[in-house]
Amino acid sequence: MTSQPVDLLLRHCYLLHIDRATEAVDIAIQDGKIVAIAPQLPHSAQLELDLAGQMVSPPFVESHIHLDSVMTVGEPRWNQSGTLFEGIEIWRERKQTLTLEDVKERAIAALKQQAMQGVLFVRTHADVSEQTLTALKGLLEAREAVKDWMTLQVVAFPQDGVYGSPQNEALLEEAMKMGADVVGGIPHYELTREDGVRSIHRIFELAQQYDRLIDIHCDEIDDDQSRFLEVVAACAVRTGMGSRVTASHTTAFGSYNNAYAFKLLGFLQRTQLNFIANPLINITLQGRTDTYPKRRGVTRVKELWQQGTNVSLGHDCIQDPWYSLGTGNMLDVANMAVHVCQMTGTPEIDACYNMVTWQGAKTLHLEDQYGVEVGKPANLIVLDASVPMVQPTQLRYEAIRRRATVRYVISRGKLLAHTEPAQAHWKG
Ligand code: FE2
Repeated sequence: MTSQPVDLLLRHCYLLHIDRATEAVDIAIQDGKIVAIAPQLPHSAQLELDLAGQMVSPPFVESHIHLDSVMTVGEPRWNQSGTLFEGIEIWRERKQTLTLEDVKERAIAALKQQAMQGVLFVRTHADVSEQTLTALKGLLEAREAVKDWMTLQVVAFPQDGVYGSPQNEALLEEAMKMGADVVGGIPHYELTREDGVRSIHRIFELAQQYDRLIDIHCDEIDDDQSRFLEVVAACAVRTGMGSRVTASHTTAFGSYNNAYAFKLLGFLQRTQLNFIANPLINITLQGRTDTYPKRRGVTRVKELWQQGTNVSLGHDCIQDPWYSLGTGNMLDVANMAVHVCQMTGTPEIDACYNMVTWQGAKTLHLEDQYGVEVGKPANLIVLDASVPMVQPTQLRYEAIRRRATVRYVISRGKLLAHTEPAQAHWKG
């Protein structure tokens, strides 16, 4: 049997699924969509790639990054203490010199770097606590400029607090009117606890008024008394917004006493709240005022995952005042989560892979846009991890262990990027 040639045909892949076993298939793509998935498809194609048993996955989802500050490390000075708060001070100086082109160019450069490593869905925060809203404008323009190959969500993030300066509340609302996708906040950095609680209520009001998602930087501090997460959870229940709400960082959760933490875990089970942990950056930022033992400063990822709460992972920063390292590689993030969150059991390693793919998609509410299925947009990646080098059940583990090269990135049915893995030659 023969069929009309399709645009692109992937032969001999091992396709990962979130809810069932990996399967050996061919994948046919036509007009930007996946049109067939089955073993030994009869199709011919304009372009055919023999993947020789390599793994195919839906793209990586970067659920938490600050693209307005990427690639500014050292400007105007390096963060010598390594703390969150010195980072905020440096950024306050750097953002005085922001221009629209500066933000847009760095953001698009970072997005290309991410896309070449298999990231096709990104949620970025845009600092909206300076009068000109330059960061937001630059990222909204970047969202438009990349839309043919990358889906970008922009969070209006009041870095200096909704009530930190008199104009900030109005700027946050202005950001909604300008088209930010998500309302953000930072209650633990408001001037008082009361302002923190008030800011959360205001964020929920804006989200309901403008029909937007919520993603709050929540309790990103080692203070075991920082308890804004319970306020966010209560608002999520009372407004019925549930799964439309995300709590990012929540590092104080790692410092709460267990009696309180277990009560809170039970409560969270009823909320459908999403969580985002950023293990690369928080393992370096947190615990800076500790001597020894020194805290890890990461939220309770394993416990949240064990109880079925949706957790995804983010990079947070690439070369900025808070984190001077980073390349945008989501397997670096998953690899660090395996270590820092002590998720070394085999289902736990697989879960860390799912946190940079399907679970990130759930946080971003990508819904029908995401997943390698017939009828969906053809967005997928091919990684340099293959059967029979490992068993099909070990592909996620192998990808994280070796931080496997993303060999092909297919976006909207087109080959967007191709990378050859490095080859080592023994000369002994
Ligand atoms: Fe962040």
